[in-house]
Amino acid sequence: MGGDLPRRRRAEHWYQPLATSDARASRVAMVPALAGNAGGDAGRGGTLAQRCTMCHGARGVSSSDVPNLAGQYSEVTYKQLVDYKNGQRLHTLMQALAQGLSDADIRDLAAFYAQLPRPSPAPESVPVPTLVRVGDPMRNVAPCASCHGGIDKKPGSPWLEGMPDAYLAGQMQLFARGERRNDPHGVMRNIARQMTAREIDEAAHYYASRSILGVHPAQPAAAR
Ligand code: HEC
Ligand code: HEC
Repeated sequence: MGGDLPRRRRAEHWYQPLATSDARASRVAMVPALAGNAGGDAGRGGTLAQRCTMCHGARGVSSSDVPNLAGQYSEVTYKQLVDYKNGQRLHTLMQALAQGLSDADIRDLAAFYAQLPRPSPAPESVPVPTLVRVGDPMRNVAPCASCHGGIDKKPGSPWLEGMPDAYLAGQMQLFARGERRNDPHGVMRNIARQMTAREIDEAAHYYASRSILGVHPAQPAAAR
């Protein structure tokens, strides 16, 4: 998103996450040691990732509604896999797969995917939704761009650009219903609950559109 968004007051000046007491919240608070891929062997990760290509694409860019992993921050991939493994993030298939991964495997996979190239962003084709750009202080919604990049990048916040539209919308709906609850302090649940169905669709469509073809590519990942 680069410098195309106005730089604003840092969102935390007015954004107060609502207190949640959630026994099932993720146990992975933050993994600063993983920033910059430290702690993982990307070469070994590449070998392990052969079991993932069927769904996540040969180069970590999926051709269906499965999330892209290429270029995802290693601390994000690490946390999500640990959360599946511990049952903090629910998904039958990914939970089963993560069960078989050791902590070292997860670090290596995270390092491998972090260094694969992301699909390069297309020129802006979809207007930036207000919630992405400025949020809505009346509803205590900080701008998405204050965590997900554009205004600021908060550790643990996934890279979203170019992810499949349906995946992004689906995750926001899961957060809104409280069915995905591995977000620290309920940060995404509190935001998604405040969003209308239309705002969810607009945000998903906006982020999904920021890929190489302007929409999520329907071509096989191997061709990329
Ligand atoms: C059979 C298909 C399939 C395979 C094989 C598979 N995944 Fe997944 N993966 C998915 C789906 C579907 C999701 C979205 C699940 C959800 O909604 O929580 C997902 C989600 C993820 C996420 C969360 C991404 C995010 O942005 O939050 C990570 C990380 C991940 N997979 C890593 C892996 C790794 C590493 C492997 C190989 C060891 C693997 N997956 C193998 C289908 C698959
Ligand atoms: C205060 C920081 C913050 C703000 C603001 C924020 N997010 Fe998030 N978001 C996060 C974090 C942290 C996660 C990862 C949660 C976890 O650990 O599973 C996340 C996860 C997500 C995911 C799931 C991505 C994936 O790959 O699994 C989506 C989609 C998302 N956010 C969309 C949005 C949208 C759209 C907005 C604005 C309306 C927004 N977020 C605002 C911090 C934020």
